[in-house]
Amino acid sequence: MLDLYKPIILIGFMASGKTTIGKRLAEILGRNFVDTDVLIEEKEGLSISEIFKRYGEGYFRDIEEKTILTAIEDKNTVIATGGGCVTRERVRKALKDKGLVFWLKVSPEAVLSRTADDNTRPLLEGDREARVRFLLFQRESLYRETADYTIDATKSPEDIINEILGILEREA
Ligand code: S3P
Repeated sequence: MLDLYKPIILIGFMASGKTTIGKRLAEILGRNFVDTDVLIEEKEGLSISEIFKRYGEGYFRDIEEKTILTAIEDKNTVIATGGGCVTRERVRKALKDKGLVFWLKVSPEAVLSRTADDNTRPLLEGDREARVRFLLFQRESLYRETADYTIDATKSPEDIINEILGILEREA
């Protein structure tokens, strides 16, 4: 039997649905919901784009790492992480050790159609299709090694939530 009294962590690429799914799961399970991007924006008083523009990605990753390592100490939580958090080894290790990790896996096509009108993601600036394909390729193995469960996130939010609830029920 799996120890389910752990934070439930959603990882996956930008626009994989981590926030939407996480909020709903937290409601259903009566847990706290944390979106680490929102925490970072609140802490810095700046949007994610502005943090990248002013201070660069390394600075953002440092704050992201600290935010995740703190958030993960609350066991009664569902955490929606930023899509690039798995690039830090310390984050991957903490998520694996302390959380129950679901990877919301999306195709490049789904990411491109979901982000068509979105300019809030600095790492998608430029040739978006090339950026998405490159980053997905680069991160695929990191998501895989961090995840306890892989969920096909091209499905509807309702189907995804039911699949996760089914896994939790089965493992309880
Ligand atoms: C990023 C994903 C974003 C945000 C930042 C960097 C990434 O979060 O943390 O723009 O590197 O993939 P979402 O996955 O919620 O879009």
